[in-house]
Amino acid sequence: MTESARDLARKLLAGNGATPSAASTVTPLGTGAAQRAAAPATSASAPKKRRGPGRQFADHPEVAAAVRKWAAIDALSEQSGMANPLFLPRNSPNDTVIRALDTELLNFSAYNYLGLANHPRVVEAAKRGLDRYGASAAASRIVAGEIPLYGELERRLADIYQVGDAMVTTSGYLTNAGVIGFLLGERDVAICDALIHGSVVSGTQWAGCRRINFRHNDPESLRQVLRMSRSGFDRALVVIEGHYSMDGTVGRVDELAAIAREYDCAVMVDEAHSFGVFGEHGFGMREQLGMAGADVDIWMGTLSKALGSCGGFIAGDADLIRAMKASAPGVAMLTGGPAPSNISAALAGLEVLIEEPQRVARLWDNTRLFNAALRDRGIDLGVSEGTPICPVIVPGEMRAGFVSATLLQRGVYAGAISAPAVPIGKERLRFFVTSEHTEQQLVSTADLLAETIAAAEQIPEHAAAV
Ligand SMILES: Cc1ncc(COP(=O)(O)O)c(C=O)c1O
Repeated sequence: MTESARDLARKLLAGNGATPSAASTVTPLGTGAAQRAAAPATSASAPKKRRGPGRQFADHPEVAAAVRKWAAIDALSEQSGMANPLFLPRNSPNDTVIRALDTELLNFSAYNYLGLANHPRVVEAAKRGLDRYGASAAASRIVAGEIPLYGELERRLADIYQVGDAMVTTSGYLTNAGVIGFLLGERDVAICDALIHGSVVSGTQWAGCRRINFRHNDPESLRQVLRMSRSGFDRALVVIEGHYSMDGTVGRVDELAAIAREYDCAVMVDEAHSFGVFGEHGFGMREQLGMAGADVDIWMGTLSKALGSCGGFIAGDADLIRAMKASAPGVAMLTGGPAPSNISAALAGLEVLIEEPQRVARLWDNTRLFNAALRDRGIDLGVSEGTPICPVIVPGEMRAGFVSATLLQRGVYAGAISAPAVPIGKERLRFFVTSEHTEQQLVSTADLLAETIAAAEQIPEHAAAV
């Protein structure tokens, strides 16, 4: 590997596009605000620099850093001739095999757990939604945007969760941000798993509430936080996930929810990576753990992962959902309704899920096979729990970048992740298994990975520690 190729691998990793988890945003401020807070304060009396038309943000620290980073990546990619895996131009659905870089790549980077994003019934339903209702809702639901498809999907989701009602939205990220922003205020607290998704962190910022983290998936840590801090706040919302996307760990949803109840807290569970994956029928953690719908106040999920569409949802108490639909900015109010084709696609995805539970069984057969193949080859899977999210730990930014770039050259696409999205020394490649991968694809990838990781170990220690 040439010097410039190493540099490219490092820079690609530094800009891996992964969403920083709450662990990496421990300050209640977002990273942007945190950086600005760290910048030297300009005195009120200092003359203000004129920035000129169209260039008002050119010297913004994050804009300038991003522009520098992308220029370096473009230059290095050009010099080294290595493909840039970020924003990889793709000319096919996000299936197990994709068309990119004028070739076919075996793909492990899609959240398409059940192959529904390109299932003929889902695609056909999206087209029907387009034909019948047009490309856009063209209004918020409140003012003339309501179409029967919304209610249909919401009824089905509410039934699955055994709760009063549900609401579909345009985005999973906005669902977390908007729901928490709407429900909590200055006198309240969100008590979050340390690895909670950035969208929840955004919600706490919108809300202006306090955020306190407890140790990842640790009931004792939650109990300790609640014992020490619960009495200092009015409302408290405990926010956890069903399946953590950086580590492949499984949320101890029932235990954590029960502790939250002891301390009179509300509970919100993000099922972005667990709906469609856990439970015999893929109905998520409620089904998996045999919970009652009301054990959790807000079941949140996305339409953009296992369901093969785009958007978000929440399910819970009917009055709460009604209030959210009428009044919550960003999820229903002051924003357009979800695109009709997305909702008809999600409905079809849900129908396939209900009619073909064997997809979920196949997903887990493949998951067991791939995890065993990786472990048999001595590959480090961190703290993952044998789920479809397989984090392959390759310590050292340079080594992880080398493995990712080499795999891409040899026809396998899996993203590398480094700090701040994961701790230094825990750099990794993330593989998402789907029900549609074949045994041959999984085993050949495990072989290639073992070979490539062995080669990466030859990269000098000082380079790996960059
Ligand atoms: C845990 C979690 N919550 C929420 C989201 C946001 O969902 P969406 O992609 O539908 O906006 C994601 C997206 O990756 C996620 O991983």
